[in-house]
Amino acid sequence: MLKTVIIGLGDISPVHIAAITSLQDKAVLAAGCDTDEGRKASLPPGTAFYADYKEMLRQEKPDVVHICLPHYLHYQAARDAAEAGCNVFAEKPLALNYRDGLEYAKLEAANQVKICICLQNRRNKTSEKLMELLKSGEAGPISGIHGTVAWKRSKAYYDAKSWRGIMSLAGGGCMINQALHTMDLMYYFAGSPIKSVKGTIAQILDYGIEVEDTAAARIEFENGVTGLFTGSVANSRDEAVEIEVSCEKATFTIRNQTLYRRDQGGETILARDDVPALAVGKAVYGNSHQKLIAQFYQVLQTGSGDYIRPQDALMVTRFIDAVRESSETGKTIRF
Ligand SMILES: NC(=O)c1ccc[n+]([C@@H]2O[C@H](COP(=O)([O-])OP(=O)(O)OC[C@H]3O[C@@H](n4cnc5c(N)ncnc54)[C@H](O)[C@@H]3O)[C@@H](O)[C@H]2O)c1
Repeated sequence: MLKTVIIGLGDISPVHIAAITSLQDKAVLAAGCDTDEGRKASLPPGTAFYADYKEMLRQEKPDVVHICLPHYLHYQAARDAAEAGCNVFAEKPLALNYRDGLEYAKLEAANQVKICICLQNRRNKTSEKLMELLKSGEAGPISGIHGTVAWKRSKAYYDAKSWRGIMSLAGGGCMINQALHTMDLMYYFAGSPIKSVKGTIAQILDYGIEVEDTAAARIEFENGVTGLFTGSVANSRDEAVEIEVSCEKATFTIRNQTLYRRDQGGETILARDDVPALAVGKAVYGNSHQKLIAQFYQVLQTGSGDYIRPQDALMVTRFIDAVRESSETGKTIRF
């Protein structure tokens, strides 16, 4: 039985708590921590509460630490937990920027612990099926990838949690916060490191926030595939995220938790994501937190299996930095 604690009891934390609780005889949630004492009530009855996570680590000596904190605290909290000998399941993004991400990627080996980064959409059934098809080469080589996110984030969203609109605390806006999974999947499906990025970011909402609410970029991957990313939280509602991968003989689209194939014979449905077993969290969080958390605990308990390591999350961190740098300099950023 693994002893687990959670740091940060805000919006995403119920999804983690429900997933840990569902592991039953494999894990027990011993304690939670938040600097806001009012969040204590969100913990299941009988769970210890701390306002200082370092004190929690000292007292509880957990096997696993879940990190659900604002972005600027991710690297430091992961480092403190790893140095205390704990395994870590950490929310995205890896860190505020690629430079901090490189330091983050050293923590596993330096402390002999395992760290899983929550890029849970890689574990969606639709993502897994598309990866399998792309690896098989059955539809011919990939020629292009398009990813698009058009969501709404109101002024109240930024007012409620002010860190979300402050550059030094969030590390950015619609890319690092809302579109990160889409940008990560574009790189993941391309099956190749990024070679260069030319992009632009903008604030087209008048909310007085420091971070971008809109971004667009053209990407060249080392294998010759090209991509177009568009992301914005200035839409009038949350539209379905769409990722389209064009291959020589067919085009694959993931939209509304469904994977479609389009070719000369028409359109067919190849996969649908599982309906979440745990009815917590918002629809935009996707369905695979529980799956990835269960896979990570399986690795911790059996020593075998796969999880998403900090180095797996480095490329999307660099991608986001490159779009920003390209926008600021007007230049193509070569990796
Ligand atoms: N994987 C996903 O799909 C997904 C979805 C939503 C959020 N997230 C990520 O989860 C993280 C948290 O997001 P959120 O929306 O829950 O944020 P939030 O602001 O709602 O919650 C953060 C909590 O951390 C607490 N906190 C701040 N400093 C602390 C400290 N030093 N010690 C202990 N607690 C502290 C705050 O009081 C707050 O309750 C972010 O990194 C976000 O990007 C991921």
